Amino acid sequence: MKTLAIIAQKGGSGKTTIAVHLAVCAVLHNIETALIDIDPQASAYHWNVSRQPENRLDAAKADAEQLADFLKKAHAGGIELSIIDTAPHSNTAAAIAAQLSDFVLIPCRPARFDLNAITSTVEIARLAKTPAAVIINAAPRGRLADEAREALKRQGISVLDPILYQRAAYSHAVIDGRSVHEYEPNGKAAAEIEALYHCITKLYSNTKARRSK
Ligand SMILES: Nc1ncnc2c1ncn2[C@@H]1O[C@H](COP(=O)(O)OP(=O)(O)OP(=O)(O)O)[C@@H](O)[C@H]1O
Ligand SMILES: [Mg+2]
Repeated sequence: MKTLAIIAQKGGSGKTTIAVHLAVCAVLHNIETALIDIDPQASAYHWNVSRQPENRLDAAKADAEQLADFLKKAHAGGIELSIIDTAPHSNTAAAIAAQLSDFVLIPCRPARFDLNAITSTVEIARLAKTPAAVIINAAPRGRLADEAREALKRQGISVLDPILYQRAAYSHAVIDGRSVHEYEPNGKAAAEIEALYHCITKLYSNTKARRSK
């Protein structure tokens, strides 16, 4: 089993949006997937509850302290990919998620305050010795995304090639528990999520599986 933690200390950077979209994308690729929500707000968990019963994912909400147990059970139950959605401003919980994961994905908007806030999240992954990379999310059209990528790279921070642009489909799809794949399967947002999913899958083939996997 591979475990992906989605962590960003900054609120509203797109953690939950990316967690639920990657989870649906993985399921569409026939990967046994679990979505574990350790944000007390439990937005990802509630998004799943709002899905049609036949489309519900294997999702759970948990405290960070329960996470290791949840992951063990997921592994024992045949889950191939666990995706952990985390809360903002949560050093301890984020650190636990990073330690228990094979990879940390850090959503970041290409905006000054978001870029400034990224170092604390990168540090959490570094202390956990878990590989990490930024995904630029909600990028407006224009040069901002490329400028943000360059600024992050100058700080020695890895940035994934795919970019998720600011698209209404991401917000609209989740209103009734869908993903962009279900809302607009041939749309640009679905193609972006697909690109991100494949990028992460490739990265996993280069990381050694960690604990109990
Ligand atoms: N690429 C995008 N395009 C358009 N809207 C987006 C995009 N990514 C996120 N959003 C919107 O931004 C808002 C915040 O996103 P989301 O809830 O995923 O962030 P978060 O990091 O999980 O927030 P929190 O820190 O509060 O948990 C939501 O309204 C979401 O629909
Ligand atoms: Mg969230």
